[in-house]
Amino acid sequence: MLATQILDPTPTGIAEAARLLREGNLVAIPTETVYGLAGDITNLHAISQIFASKERPTFDPLIVHISLNQKGSFLTYLEEDLQLVNLSDFSASTRQKIDHLLHCFWPGPLTIVLPKTSRVADLVTSGLGDVALRIPKHPITQAVLQASQTPLAAPSANRFGRISPTSAQAVLAELAGRIPCILDGGSCQVGLESTVIRIDLQGIPWLLRPGGLASEQIAAVWGEPLHLPNSEASQGSPGRLTSHYAPQKPLLLLPKPLAHFTENDWQIWREKLDPYPHLGVLRFVQPGDAVLDLADPWRKPVTVSLLSGVEDLPAAARGLFASLRTLDESPAHIIVSEPSPSMNGLGHAIADRLQRAAVKRMI
Ligand code: TXA
Ligand code: MG
Repeated sequence: MLATQILDPTPTGIAEAARLLREGNLVAIPTETVYGLAGDITNLHAISQIFASKERPTFDPLIVHISLNQKGSFLTYLEEDLQLVNLSDFSASTRQKIDHLLHCFWPGPLTIVLPKTSRVADLVTSGLGDVALRIPKHPITQAVLQASQTPLAAPSANRFGRISPTSAQAVLAELAGRIPCILDGGSCQVGLESTVIRIDLQGIPWLLRPGGLASEQIAAVWGEPLHLPNSEASQGSPGRLTSHYAPQKPLLLLPKPLAHFTENDWQIWREKLDPYPHLGVLRFVQPGDAVLDLADPWRKPVTVSLLSGVEDLPAAARGLFASLRTLDESPAHIIVSEPSPSMNGLGHAIADRLQRAAVKRMI
């Protein structure tokens, strides 16, 4: 067991984090989306430690994070300065569109998957010919990237399959004793992982993972809707297992908001949940919703966690993982969640995470 040290994001703390990274150690770092477990992409020992400490299967590739200090276009930076990608098979017009897209959304919660060069080790990409790249916006992440002088591979800093951490305390709950150091940057602003897209050789945009940047915004810049992979195995991200982002307690996704429950619905769901003496309930509060005393209709003790509804999806996204963690740590035996308040914008990513957190069998 390692003693996991927590560093403050002072210039000394950032310099120490960068020193540890340069020497091949792992450091959990804040980003604007979620905390990442960072390691030097040029150090294979560090990369294999990332997989080991997360218990992540090596078929699930890592995102490479890079610093924002390019002089010319993003593509020149990626191809010539960093030599991470090889876009020689792309047409000039697709290259131009990709560069424009990156200028619109980098730094920020957008990850793009592009053909890699041999400078990116196969272990980072799980043997795939493409690498996932992101320039994070968080000033502390940028400071660490600048000081460590190397691109950093950083998956979310949770054990595999579990909820991504949005605070240093949540990283500690996941990885204490497994990693040497956490850089504490407070709570993450976005709260959901980045949106992952791939642009293929034909210039077709694929949405591999909905996330903290609304896919509608990407589509508006690209000029066509993003294509959805038709099966997880084909165009999807290899790590997109249907069960993911999961709390330790079972989570049931309700088919409709509680405010729309009829007496018949209450009866059906009370019966389903009869075996569980204490419920955790995740609610998305819509304007005009009555503040229900949920213990009354459920007829048993209830721990409630409230998130914003459709009028403030960024706030709902920001609080989602922390709410799931709170309910997971509460006395509840099972978590029931209202469905995402929207399927548009960040609502799509919230729905995706809830679906993957939910148990697959009906009770
Ligand atoms: O916001 C984020 O993206 C956070 C922060 C730390 O940057 N990182 C993150 O990493 O969520 P991770 O490893 O938990 O999720 C990365 C996703 C996985 O679904 C993985 O399969 C996909 O990106 N991915 C990575 N490389 C890929 C590649 N070469 N091709 C397709 N999908 C890839
Ligand atoms: Mg993850």
